[in-house]
Amino acid sequence: MALDRKTPNDLAAFWMPFTANRQFKAAPRLFVGAKDMHYTTHDGRQVLDGTAGLWCCNAGHCRPKITEAIQKQAAELDYAPAFQMGHPAAFELANRVIDIAPDGMEHVFFTNSGSESVETALKIALAYHRARGEGSRTRLIGRERGYHGVNFGGISVGGIVTNRKNFGTLLAGVDHLPHTHLPDENRWTRGQPEHGANLADDLERLVALHGADTIAAVIVEPIAGSTGVIMPPKGYLEKLRAITRKHGILLIFDEVITGFGRTGAAFASQFYGVTPDMMTTAKGLTNGVIPMGAVLTTAEVHDAFMDGPEHMIELFHGYTYSGNPIASAAGIATLDTYKEEGLFERCAEIAPYWADALHSLKGTRHVIDIRNEGLIGAIELEPIAEAPTKRAFSAFLAAYEKGVLIRTTGDIIAMSPPLIIEKDQIDQLIGTVREVLESLD
Ligand SMILES: Cc1ncc(COP(=O)(O)O)c(C=O)c1O
Repeated sequence: MALDRKTPNDLAAFWMPFTANRQFKAAPRLFVGAKDMHYTTHDGRQVLDGTAGLWCCNAGHCRPKITEAIQKQAAELDYAPAFQMGHPAAFELANRVIDIAPDGMEHVFFTNSGSESVETALKIALAYHRARGEGSRTRLIGRERGYHGVNFGGISVGGIVTNRKNFGTLLAGVDHLPHTHLPDENRWTRGQPEHGANLADDLERLVALHGADTIAAVIVEPIAGSTGVIMPPKGYLEKLRAITRKHGILLIFDEVITGFGRTGAAFASQFYGVTPDMMTTAKGLTNGVIPMGAVLTTAEVHDAFMDGPEHMIELFHGYTYSGNPIASAAGIATLDTYKEEGLFERCAEIAPYWADALHSLKGTRHVIDIRNEGLIGAIELEPIAEAPTKRAFSAFLAAYEKGVLIRTTGDIIAMSPPLIIEKDQIDQLIGTVREVLESLD
């Protein structure tokens, strides 16, 4: 499509991420404003946010405390070099994150996104073993259907075929655990499914195949989000923890979507009572307002690097914007907002109402499974033969026309509203989804 340089609003130049560009540009959907639970569209309609943006605006939109903190910081200290220099807000935010993190997490490495958090954690895992004299541990284990962002490490350990197959040979020395989506056994489950803990035992098979002394880390999402919302079977995460510990393998939880209250606890690792060696986060860290991510590590991981001459850099890794002042200010104000408004507790309180509303869709046309945890919900649809993903995408478009934002991955509708959602808004969200599904072929 040639650029029309005479029309200021020409849409051609912007190659949109994870978007059907031609479909979008033929019938654009633009947001021009947002407040609390709603977006305003370019044609002046209010749209209820059923997805917290992209699982990130956990406190809702345009929250005054966060806006003011950003404005103040921008006027006071716009940027400070991230290497060999510091500024107070980044240290304060790191401490504040550790305050709400699981016991055992003691250090924070700042990044700019979930993808960068994943790359950072994988690199720390490799360098950690090397620093301890176990440099043969170079293998990384992910999981089928896992999503860990879009950079090369993340797509290598990730397990979504469309995100992998077009991008060459990826990282060498990666293997995958089986996914835990068992629809026949676990259909219509509320919370954690009964079946599938034994799938963690596959890690013993990989250890037997490759040798534990070649494996650096296992990375999984406690709840797999982008692949269609798959909750961990009861006992699964505990088993992974036990097997990784037994073999000296680091366990990384990718909490990019589950972090910051989504399950009703600060992090899913607290919700499920399993603590990894590292956690990757982003999104809700700044309420999605300013790009920022963070990797949390134990003291054991961090301290392995604190060796050698003191003038030497310990970890040759970092980003120009690691701990950026404005992002740090946004993060502090976001954590204040979560705390002052008790939003994690609020999520836990409203979760049963959410679960009931969601599961009331059982029996609705096209629905073949429903899953939930905290303020997360998934509705799996029967795919149209020969046109997978089309039915869910049509549902997304129809819901948008009816004033509700949902998200779809494959033929699954995934919902993750801001933690400030009210019961009548849950009714509107679920009611609209019901109407839409009943009207679709
Ligand atoms: C589990 C998980 N990891 C990593 C990412 C990547 O985050 P980002 O898009 O900020 O790079 C995502 C994004 O949705 C995610 O869900």
